[in-house]
Amino acid sequence: MTYPDSDRKDAATHIVADLGGSMRLTVIGCGYLGAVHAAAMASIGHEVVGIDVDPRKIDALSRGEAPFFEPDLEDLLAGGVASGRLSFTTDMSQAAGSRVHFIAVGTPQQQGGYAADLTYVNGAVDALLPYLRPGDVVAGKSTVPVGTAAELAPRIEATGAALVWNPEFLREGWAVKDTVEPDRLVVGLGHSSGADPAAVTGTDAAALLREVYHPAVAAGTPFIVTDWSTAELVKVAANAFLATKISFINAMAEIAEVTGADVTQLADAIGHDVRIGRRFLGAGIGFGGGCLPKDIRAFSARAEELGRGESVAFLREVDAINLRRRDRAVELVVQAFGGSVFEKRVAVLGAAFKPFSDDIRDSPALDVAVRLRGLGADVVVTDPAAIDNARRVHPQLTYITDRDEAIRDADAVVLVTEWDEYRRQLSPEHASSLTAGRIIVDGRNGLDAAAWRAAGWTYFGMGRP
Ligand code: UDX
Repeated sequence: MTYPDSDRKDAATHIVADLGGSMRLTVIGCGYLGAVHAAAMASIGHEVVGIDVDPRKIDALSRGEAPFFEPDLEDLLAGGVASGRLSFTTDMSQAAGSRVHFIAVGTPQQQGGYAADLTYVNGAVDALLPYLRPGDVVAGKSTVPVGTAAELAPRIEATGAALVWNPEFLREGWAVKDTVEPDRLVVGLGHSSGADPAAVTGTDAAALLREVYHPAVAAGTPFIVTDWSTAELVKVAANAFLATKISFINAMAEIAEVTGADVTQLADAIGHDVRIGRRFLGAGIGFGGGCLPKDIRAFSARAEELGRGESVAFLREVDAINLRRRDRAVELVVQAFGGSVFEKRVAVLGAAFKPFSDDIRDSPALDVAVRLRGLGADVVVTDPAAIDNARRVHPQLTYITDRDEAIRDADAVVLVTEWDEYRRQLSPEHASSLTAGRIIVDGRNGLDAAAWRAAGWTYFGMGRP
């Protein structure tokens, strides 16, 4: 499956309590990226001030409460706040006195276009400028179009501070582990004069960042020092590759569907080739979330601006394949009922874009639920973490927190987010004792098809016979 348990084990126990090399740091933007980064940096001994414009978020974080669901984050926050090393504020003047200022604000997709909206990045930098001192380092972590650092640099350099790009590769649901134990650190250096940035600014920003990440550096984590453009591109290239890998296997699922082949066995077989690898070959309803969809679109838009649209034209196809899988899941449910879901009770297991997250941004799971409802089905959605967020955006759906209550009397069950409580802990026998019908659509290919069939269910997978 997509999320092997071995990844999850002891995620929190790996937090390195190495308190050497303490520094004062600012983290601007306290969303999924910034809040985790701030808490993780405090956990390794730094004095960290997190800054955000949203007072509700800041109030929660100041109490040591995570404003969103992220495993292990609350422990880290509570520990940091209690230690006095971690504080949160809406007041940008608190950035004064920090040595490194991380920019971790969002870069959403522009309204009415594919490009990234850099309003928050520009706003954060402008608000920070009055508090920068010579020798400070501004470290961009937000995912931005290549060329953004070069655009921002003159304003920052005018204060005597230096700008580096230090992309973040954390996955939601694993964010604490990914931040404390990254698989690589990338630092892009530059100066708008084109000269050696250390010589001009008098600050060896790479050495400073090594000090910031001292436990990971000491553990031998690859530390790649490069230029701004490469650092910016590393991030979008990584996400483009991951999205392509998922859409590749989903394209194979489409072929499997017309040939009777089984895409999960296909993925296992090709995944044994170490050059290919089994991870991110989970065929299903595809990718969503706050990163992959908007990042591949922003990459396409930027490539067009650079006159190289054709170089990443395949990303349009990656996006199209991905969106088709949602259509396919809906189609399977409709087919299962012989052509119409009108007034059929459909229990949708999952709303988050993936397990261990409450994030519903561009969630394929929620999209499938909304479309079924649009076709007249009586849709009940359940999710262990994302119901509040889902209800805010789609109040027209019925939400039931308790899984068993959600599937009670359902004519069909549709698994769209592979939380353990649906994938591992729901047996077909138990489900049979609650539901009215025996139709199961497995949008994540996470269930044991044979076991469900043996229990009398009609099982539909994605690219499986
Ligand atoms: C992603 C990148 O993995 C991370 O490195 C980057 O920093 C941010 O974007 P994230 O959005 O948290 O992280 O989720 P990820 O685990 O990559 O999953 C993205 C989506 O792909 C989910 O909707 C997931 O369900 C789907 N997925 C993943 C598949 O459909 N199949 C797979 O095999 C793997």
